[in-house]
Amino acid sequence: MSDFWNERYSGADYFYGTQANEFLRSVSDMIPKGSKVLCIAEGEGRNAVFLASHSYHVTAVDSSSEGKKKALALASKMGVEIDYQLSDLVNFDFGEEKWDAIVSIFCHLSDTIRPAIHQKIEKALKPRGLFIFQSYNPKQLEFNTGGPKEITMLNTDESMRSEFSSLTWLKLENSLAEIHEGAGHQGMSSLLSGIGVKEKLAL
Ligand SMILES: C[S@@+](CC[C@H](N)C(=O)[O-])C[C@H]1O[C@@H](n2cnc3c(N)ncnc32)[C@H](O)[C@@H]1O
Repeated sequence: MSDFWNERYSGADYFYGTQANEFLRSVSDMIPKGSKVLCIAEGEGRNAVFLASHSYHVTAVDSSSEGKKKALALASKMGVEIDYQLSDLVNFDFGEEKWDAIVSIFCHLSDTIRPAIHQKIEKALKPRGLFIFQSYNPKQLEFNTGGPKEITMLNTDESMRSEFSSLTWLKLENSLAEIHEGAGHQGMSSLLSGIGVKEKLAL
């Protein structure tokens, strides 16, 4: 799988551009300034670099070595530091109650591994921590504008609710929108966007 992404990222251009995802930009102020953020499946680093340049302490994780190279080059160009961990999400140590926010932008995982990774994300958030994501939903298969063609890799609001049983969703919304992110995401798209908060359990 990382060969596929390494090839995608091997060109001089950034496959999804260098601007952070618009949904993330629109909600990032909800994350307390200066706090610790993990960006999963971060690819060439556009979202991690954006957050680092807004005074967050950012760790990124992805299995693509080409993605890591491009991300570190972008961080250096923008004069910020990110900690980029090269790892498959299946093997990554997310930690427990470690992150103020976890960001997942266009991370589409096979349903054989996704529920376990989502459970690790939930555990890894601090109490009141935020999970911010945007992905394609199954309706995206009607468009040829980006994302996997395998329906089981596309998130639904039902799957997100059941795989994140202890998050309270401040937003969980399907939408149609025109997006332009590098060569990789171009045109009308069917999206699922969410902001979940890990509520501290009242004892
Ligand atoms: C569509 S790209 C999104 C990249 C980045 N989040 C962005 O929005 O620009 C999906 C990324 O998921 C990564 N990925 C997919 N499955 C993964 C896994 N099991 N472990 C780690 N990274 C994975 C790929 O390497 C790729 O960089």
